[in-house]
Amino acid sequence: MTATAGIPLVNAWNEWDTLREVVVGSADGACFEPTEPGNRPQVRRHKGAQFPTGRKSAEAVARANEELNGLARLLESRAVTVRRPGPHDFSRPLRTPHFDVENQYCAVCPRDVLITLGNEIVEATMSRRARYFEYEPYRHLVYEYWEADPRVGWTVAPKPTMSDAMYRQDFWEWPIEERHRRMHASEFCVGQTEVVFDAADMSRFGRDILVQESMTTNRAGIRWLKRTLEPKGFRVHPVHFPLDYFPSHIDCTFVPLRPGLILANPDRPISQDELSMFTDNGWELIQAPEPVLTNDEMPPYCQSSKWLSMNVLSLSPSTVICEEQEKSLQDLLADQGFEVLTVPFRNVFEYGGSLHCATWDIRRDGTREDYFP
Ligand code: NVA
Repeated sequence: MTATAGIPLVNAWNEWDTLREVVVGSADGACFEPTEPGNRPQVRRHKGAQFPTGRKSAEAVARANEELNGLARLLESRAVTVRRPGPHDFSRPLRTPHFDVENQYCAVCPRDVLITLGNEIVEATMSRRARYFEYEPYRHLVYEYWEADPRVGWTVAPKPTMSDAMYRQDFWEWPIEERHRRMHASEFCVGQTEVVFDAADMSRFGRDILVQESMTTNRAGIRWLKRTLEPKGFRVHPVHFPLDYFPSHIDCTFVPLRPGLILANPDRPISQDELSMFTDNGWELIQAPEPVLTNDEMPPYCQSSKWLSMNVLSLSPSTVICEEQEKSLQDLLADQGFEVLTVPFRNVFEYGGSLHCATWDIRRDGTREDYFP
């Protein structure tokens, strides 16, 4: 691979400009997410049942891969270059000086791990032990882009210890009233002693980057992002969705579709004072319709909510990919003037994500714009 004279090989300033190259995740070798201080997975509809450990079944992996491959084919049919993660043995346990974990997770959701910010690739710290080395299946790609184009930047965030002391484990025991009482305190299962963030808590709007404070991103993580990115000309904005008592990853909550338009989660309004940045600049928020599945109908091992329906992938400011069965959302987007493409993706839900989560955009057209002058 060699750099072209024009647009750098790595170039993505927002979530919607025309997509040219993207990484699509893979379920190869996927394991169940282990119980650990930052994660208490539950079997849906079977409260208290033991969550499985070790490898997912060959059938579950094949079902997810079929849909991930289908997404890859759709993207290629739209002239998007598709790249895939390399192999990784997720069944291996990890032992560091600070923790042990029985197995790792998967490479279905590159969005959680890596983000392209302009011409720079940023590898997140991650927030869970089982995901500590999840950058590895993507490193061959990072090296390839970095070697091929001197304009490509590469920043690796400081790895936290993920020791017991980094977490606030009583978080998992708080009754719902306690969560409601604390909803503006932004205290979740990660404490504030170390820099912690997952890449999927960020959303890109040209010069402006939103970062959701969550179970997977703490205030130290946001400070690190601010101090690292603002000297490079970005503005970093912490955002909060106080009615989401288990926030993690912004892309089922607040999803920009094109300049001036956001798909918003009706159950999770953005904090009133943070809304003004959008309303003052003429942005419109449209509410996502009720998803087809209820939370109870989501797959038993899926730890994400029904709002995976909103986890759409933009191919351009006028074309968006939606999950095949989410008809109401497809209609809403079509009414807004979008060309709506669809793919089946329900079998990927078990891995915690949908179309946006399962991708990492490497190159889109466009440059750094100021949408909030
Ligand atoms: N934590 C989010 C999913 C993010 C991909 C949710 O459950 O809605």
